[in-house]
Amino acid sequence: MKIMLTLFSAAALAFASSHALAGDPRAGESKAEACIACHGADGNSPAPAFPRIGGQYESYLLHSLRGYKSGDRPNPIMADIVKDLSDRDLRDLAAYYAAQDSGLYVPRRGQ
Ligand code: HEC
Repeated sequence: MKIMLTLFSAAALAFASSHALAGDPRAGESKAEACIACHGADGNSPAPAFPRIGGQYESYLLHSLRGYKSGDRPNPIMADIVKDLSDRDLRDLAAYYAAQDSGLYVPRRGQ
């Protein structure tokens, strides 16, 4: 019985911590004010200088944001944007933009 209890608490803990890692799109929405000028409100800026980030995979967005912060993906503009943001902020922002519609599409033949 004791081993069952231990296994159960370990599983519950694992669930709780994986949940805590996920970003919160609602919190991300208010943090995204700093991004609108370049990426647009939904992450789909029509300006070609700014990549479309709406509807991309959350894991990809988070990976990119962490890369700008660590310097793995060097870019002076984005490095400056993320330098004062916490990892929690990055996760929330990634969750928010992943939840937006994608402005990317592949036209079907004949369209
Ligand atoms: C001053 C303009 C500007 C602002 C403000 C800005 N960005 Fe960016 N962002 C860029 C540019 C330019 C790039 C392309 C950089 C590169 O080539 O790696 C970029 C790239 C990105 C990428 C990578 C996209 C991809 O397809 O790989 C993400 C994710 C991103 N920005 C998120 C954000 C978030 C979240 C914010 C707000 C906290 C933000 N950006 C604010 C200009 C901006």
